[in-house]
Amino acid sequence: MMGILLLGVPFLFLFICCGVLKLNELRYRKKGLPPGTMGWPFFGETTEFLKQGPSFMKNQSAKHGSLFKSHILGSPTVVCMEPELNRYMLMSEGKGLVPGYPQSMLKIMGKWNIGAVEGSLHKTMRSSMLGLIRPTMIRDKLLSKIDEFINAFLCHWNGQVIDIQEKTKEMWLLSALKLIAGIETGPLSESMKKELYGVLTGTISLPIYFPGTNYYRGFKAREKVISMLENIIKERRRDPLCCQADMLDSLLETDSENEAKLSDEQIIDTILTLVYSGFETVSTTTMMAIKYLHDHPQALEEFRNEHFEIKKKKSSDYKIDWNDYKSMEFTRAVICETLRLATVVNGVLRKTTKDTELKGYIIPKGWKIYVYSREMNYDPLVYDEPFSFNPWRWMNQNLESHHYFLSFGGGGRLCPGKELGIVQVSLFLHYFVTRYRWEEIGGEKLLKFPRVEAPKGFHIRIWDY
Ligand code: HEM
Repeated sequence: MMGILLLGVPFLFLFICCGVLKLNELRYRKKGLPPGTMGWPFFGETTEFLKQGPSFMKNQSAKHGSLFKSHILGSPTVVCMEPELNRYMLMSEGKGLVPGYPQSMLKIMGKWNIGAVEGSLHKTMRSSMLGLIRPTMIRDKLLSKIDEFINAFLCHWNGQVIDIQEKTKEMWLLSALKLIAGIETGPLSESMKKELYGVLTGTISLPIYFPGTNYYRGFKAREKVISMLENIIKERRRDPLCCQADMLDSLLETDSENEAKLSDEQIIDTILTLVYSGFETVSTTTMMAIKYLHDHPQALEEFRNEHFEIKKKKSSDYKIDWNDYKSMEFTRAVICETLRLATVVNGVLRKTTKDTELKGYIIPKGWKIYVYSREMNYDPLVYDEPFSFNPWRWMNQNLESHHYFLSFGGGGRLCPGKELGIVQVSLFLHYFVTRYRWEEIGGEKLLKFPRVEAPKGFHIRIWDY
């Protein structure tokens, strides 16, 4: 009797599980939705998505087609893996497809952060940002500052074992602080760096506002960053002569009627957005380019030749200028190939502001759409031998000529920091390969999904070249 009862328990459990899954499917059974499964109530299929990553996406699309529904990261979501449709969605903000980033990110980054604003406000915030980082600004103002910073940052690495993941993150943060508010490396930049790390970790956490959680710490860090930035702004206003001709000065400019173009709150959120947007993208691209160059000696040789060719024409205390940067054709190809092969960006998130028709299906208002562009990067019809690192495939082509290369997004939200990001990576790599050779310590895990990262760091041993 006892045996039968014990045998019955797993069956009962299985029965209840199937019932719960079925009920959850019924909850989302609405006419016109794409095929797919919704998983468990509340959790959906997040665990499968995070554990299996790209294979989860491939399996689901094999079963249900390239547009399927799921429930991931806390929201009912439609995943789109169809190249043309993905491009169309990036162009369709006016048709009710707005950014759909997680609440934790939007709340910690502030209500004026560019991912949280739409319509005419987005245009205003975007154009003030573009005014700071567009290519002519880089050429005329930013490049020499970036060069000065990276040149000094990459000194005295000979004989050291360093965590290149940590160093590339530091490179971006400290360089951004210098460009934005003229903050030189020192005690202020160190305390800013500490708090900014807190903000960044908070944006990718579960939104539980309770002491001890990353989300809570993210908010506290945001408060401290705001207070430091408010002090800097106050100081600038008090003493206009301490003009630094940096991004903050441009943001503080007034119009012809002496009215501020942006409020202080908007300025602070813009600064946070600038630091945030380049943080993981620029640092991960730099780290992965170093990894790929290490693993591909022929590419490294051509890469070094390009940079020594530039160095050869210069004096000993040289600076990289705009023409030098523009001549780094192979470097640009290495960066594109790194972005493609490492898939630094898997895709972007959108949200429907009304019931929206896609490929004959109706996506309900408030659902997320994952514009999942990762698989396009490995499509053999687009890239010959897609899994090999081949920077030469990008030679004599510009980024825009690659119709399906969406690492910088597209449409009205195309990355405004694209050129700045490429400049940062290029200059870092210039000083790195012309000064040093390196070997990997080895045995360290590199994850590619959901983010490209080395959970325990990526250590390399460095010598003078
Ligand atoms: C390798 C470097 C970079 C990559 C791969 C990258 C990628 C992207 C992508 C995919 C988007 C589109 C997001 C969407 O559609 O929702 C984007 C947007 C954005 N990026 Fe970048 N980014 C890079 C560097 C930078 C840098 C250095 C900055 C600024 C300092 C920056 C600032 C921004 C901003 C402000 C947006 C939002 C634009 C808008 O909503 O109108 N990015 N980036």
